[in-house]
Amino acid sequence: MTRPADRPAPTLRARLQAASQRLLGAHCADDLDDARLQAELLYGEAAGLDRARVIAAGGGAADPTALERLEALLLRRLGHEPLAYILGWREFYGLRFEVGPGCLVPRPETETLVEAGLAAIREHPSARRVVRVADVGTGSGAVALAVARHALIAKVIAVDVSTGALAWAARNRRRLGPMERVVLLAGDLLEPIAEPLDVVLANLPYIPTEEFEALPDEIRASEPRLAVDGGEDGLDPFRRFASQLPEHLADGPVAVLMEVGAGQAGTVTDLIVDAVGRPETTTAVHRDLRGSRRVVEVRAGYPPGAGAAPGG
Ligand SMILES: C[S@@+](CC[C@H](N)C(=O)[O-])C[C@H]1O[C@@H](n2cnc3c(N)ncnc32)[C@H](O)[C@@H]1O
Repeated sequence: MTRPADRPAPTLRARLQAASQRLLGAHCADDLDDARLQAELLYGEAAGLDRARVIAAGGGAADPTALERLEALLLRRLGHEPLAYILGWREFYGLRFEVGPGCLVPRPETETLVEAGLAAIREHPSARRVVRVADVGTGSGAVALAVARHALIAKVIAVDVSTGALAWAARNRRRLGPMERVVLLAGDLLEPIAEPLDVVLANLPYIPTEEFEALPDEIRASEPRLAVDGGEDGLDPFRRFASQLPEHLADGPVAVLMEVGAGQAGTVTDLIVDAVGRPETTTAVHRDLRGSRRVVEVRAGYPPGAGAAPGG
């Protein structure tokens, strides 16, 4: 059917508004702003444009080929496939990480682990030479690569038990570098690491199994269970990590930082203090941008005054 000559084609902005409403109606977005952002990113993917150009083009007509592609991408999203898997990437700590089935999509709250980890590396007494860092449960390589890019003195050993996740980490290391300062190893927690570690960072699965079963489809059905389910109380991987820790720590000053879930900070702090097993430990809990107690830090042997890390 032809459109009456006096009825102009809907603008791209109107098309995106309609797409946003569909996303919101299918509970694929938190609110209208989130839905609009997703619609813009999906159209950008369909049209080969970045988001700024999509917004700038909003007053004109949409490209019909891109609209067809948008519809296909929208249907995937309306089926609750994670947005980052559809786009093939997610921004984390100012870097673009390639992601897809087999690896967890990096979350904004994990930037707290990077931030606190960078401080522990910079304040480490051997920071003029090389600081040996581990990223345990590296997934897409987000933490390892963000840290290596921002701390030139860090040599990072990144471990994951999932070879599927490690393949994504390897892709990201190739794209983002630095190749020579990030080593990827397959294995269980700290086991594959042969050299003593100065700073250990870990974002292990911490969601209790019962809560995992109640998670939205988008996470439960799409992202790897191995990356999310931490067993009955969420802390199974933490206990095994703590039992492996003593033999992997350097003799000198050390810092261990772990991302945790709601209500876990106290228990994890105790677990790590015991595992570090030194008289002179200091502890801190770092809050994420939403104010949740997100990262537990235990240091031993740092000079007094270093790491006046926030408590609470
Ligand atoms: C919560 S995800 C974190 C991924 C990534 N570091 C991030 O922050 O986006 C946990 C990761 O730990 C890995 N993992 C689970 N159990 C492990 C184990 N026993 N040893 C090593 N890695 C493990 C999972 O495969 C997953 O990639």
